[in-house]
Amino acid sequence: MPNTPIRQTFSYQQQFTVPFEYPVHFTTDLFNPANTLLTDTIDRLHEHRKHRVIVLIDEGLAQAQPHLADRIDAYLQAFPQQIEIVHQPFLVPGGEPVKKDRSALDQVLNILGDTHYRLCRQSFVLAVGGGSFLDLVGLAAALVHRGLRLVRIPSTVLAQNDSAVGVKNGIDRNDQKNFLGTFAPPFAVLCDADLLATLPDKYWRGGIAEAFKVAIIRDADFFDFLCENARALKQRDTQLMESLIQRCAALHLDHIRLGGDPFETGVARPLDFGHWAAHRIEILSDQTFGHGLAVAVGLAIDTCCAADLGLLTASERDRILQALHEADLPLYTPLLDERNAQGDLRILQGLADFREHLGGNLTLTMPHGIGHQTDIHEMPTAQVEAAIGLLRRFAE
Ligand SMILES: NC(=O)c1ccc[n+]([C@@H]2O[C@H](COP(=O)([O-])OP(=O)(O)OC[C@H]3O[C@@H](n4cnc5c(N)ncnc54)[C@H](O)[C@@H]3O)[C@@H](O)[C@H]2O)c1
Ligand SMILES: [Zn+2]
Repeated sequence: MPNTPIRQTFSYQQQFTVPFEYPVHFTTDLFNPANTLLTDTIDRLHEHRKHRVIVLIDEGLAQAQPHLADRIDAYLQAFPQQIEIVHQPFLVPGGEPVKKDRSALDQVLNILGDTHYRLCRQSFVLAVGGGSFLDLVGLAAALVHRGLRLVRIPSTVLAQNDSAVGVKNGIDRNDQKNFLGTFAPPFAVLCDADLLATLPDKYWRGGIAEAFKVAIIRDADFFDFLCENARALKQRDTQLMESLIQRCAALHLDHIRLGGDPFETGVARPLDFGHWAAHRIEILSDQTFGHGLAVAVGLAIDTCCAADLGLLTASERDRILQALHEADLPLYTPLLDERNAQGDLRILQGLADFREHLGGNLTLTMPHGIGHQTDIHEMPTAQVEAAIGLLRRFAE
């Protein structure tokens, strides 16, 4: 090797910012042609052009609402000046299993990539369905031409109050939740309360769990509201649920806008309270538990641990557990007591996964008094064992 000095030949500090802006609307009867919110939203940039639109519907939703696909088609046909619909709505499987199944991503990519539809970066994907379906379609829409315009129309409580209003998409890989995904803000989000009428109870309640999550760490008044109305919410009081969804969505939107880290480049996941255990429960149950109900158990575990760590008083802990119970949310599952060949609780793998995802240092968001939060960096096994013991007794 010739002994030539190393030279720094050229450096340039590249920097720019890209503003993101998207509306999140709450309405009813979205696909009634008298309601122009959808077309107005598609036309919100006043581009003076006809917009090419493709519609994908969660198959589970379409089965529960057999006229929905035709209603959406008829709605869009009613605005021929503004909208060119490239095909009748496509039905695509939804639910948690599609995030595990790579062929589901291929199926959506094949639809969006079909050259007959001539989709371009200005074309619109209308995705109507639950959080799993929206995570899948959102990823596909972000990949095609490096990003089509995505209008999310969420049809579950959890998607309306949490997942669909945010900036993430993703599918699982091997045993890791959301391992493949992107940060891709949508073009708009339209929440139609009427879509929830057919939602199975399990998912209705699952969405309430995410509201508890954000209330416990962010908003004591909202927590009081949930405690007061837990029973009525479980019994499907639709007006109360609309309030819950709007408050919860606003808290998530505020966090993304004001939290200082919308694309989660830092080492904390401030809204993932209870999620280290929840993600593991989903996997241990082979995806039968459902994200929202798994979050409820995760909240119960972390609530007990927070009390053990002196972050909540015993009466605050009991108030939280009681309210979750009144909303008919699970606090315990026998999956929590499963052990591996070494005798370790299998749920603890959730902590290891979180640590790895965050780059080696564990950061867990915990409540610090109701309505406030703090980060911890250690979760002793003894605390988790004690929490599970307490919850097992509570469930008996
Ligand atoms: N991207 C994010 O930021 C984010 C945030 C939170 C959760 N999530 C993800 O969301 C997923 C959970 O979503 P979910 O709770 O909405 O459930 P889901 O999407 O898995 O849907 C549950 C079931 O309900 C059906 N369904 C949907 N809407 C219906 C309706 N109105 N009537 C009848 N059936 C209907 C679906 O076909 C599916 O079978 C998880 O994978 C979770 O990781 C993502
Ligand atoms: Zn969640």
